[in-house]
Amino acid sequence: MLHVVLLETALELVPTEITAKKLIQKQASLRRKKPNEILLDQTYHGQAMTQLLNGHKRGRPDILFFCLQSLLETPLCKSGFLTIHIHLYDGRIIEVNPSVRIPRNYERFVGLMEQLLLVGQVPPKGTALLKVIQKDLSTLISSLRDGYDTALTLLAVEGGHETRLGGLLSLIPSDISIPVIIGIGAFPHGDFQLDIQGFFDLHIELDTEVMMAWHVCSEILWLYALKNDITSKRRSFNSQQNQF
Ligand SMILES: C[S@@+](CC[C@H](N)C(=O)[O-])C[C@H]1O[C@@H](n2cnc3c(N)ncnc32)[C@H](O)[C@@H]1O
Repeated sequence: MLHVVLLETALELVPTEITAKKLIQKQASLRRKKPNEILLDQTYHGQAMTQLLNGHKRGRPDILFFCLQSLLETPLCKSGFLTIHIHLYDGRIIEVNPSVRIPRNYERFVGLMEQLLLVGQVPPKGTALLKVIQKDLSTLISSLRDGYDTALTLLAVEGGHETRLGGLLSLIPSDISIPVIIGIGAFPHGDFQLDIQGFFDLHIELDTEVMMAWHVCSEILWLYALKNDITSKRRSFNSQQNQF
């Protein structure tokens, strides 16, 4: 199983410290919402965000949008060998149902995320496609290890151990039941909090320059699918199904 954990994701509602700002009040009223019911977004709130602690790491919901588009609905995801969790800046964790179809339209994605953060799950009733769960990051990673001492925990980070694609391919266990847990920062700038780094055994750097989080997601996902020959597994499963 491949478990992707998007870390310190720059997704949150406008925090109380800046809800009184005129620009935010206006934007909210145009959308017929309260200021603390809309997503924080650097594009619109950049100036107000200079007042926020760690403002440079926050208010980039588009990063999550592209990461989810890269991971969901892929052959690996459809095969049931992928889980995705979204760890937020405030420490809350969102569980992603692998069968969710994220809107292709960014405005609709924003509305969905606002509902998720306000209500705690989407859809609000019935089977959750996205849900805030009562776990912290440490508990989540322990549960994803699923009791395997051999589980691999990787953190993708600039300054980590220089790792080539071939090296990464050989790190991935051949036994698909052994969990591989990869942490990827879903924030625009800055470093991981120190305690977060400690949850991952191996820190890997995949390029000499900073990469987009969604490119890192894609690289890991497709490499993992290659190592486990997911296409062949899917073909043989489909041909067995067709025999009945
Ligand atoms: C835009 S970066 C965030 C910038 C931040 N300086 C950092 O490295 O964490 C988004 C995420 O992509 C991953 N990433 C970016 N460049 C990388 C690289 N060269 N090697 C490995 N992972 C990288 C990291 O997980 C990072 O948190």
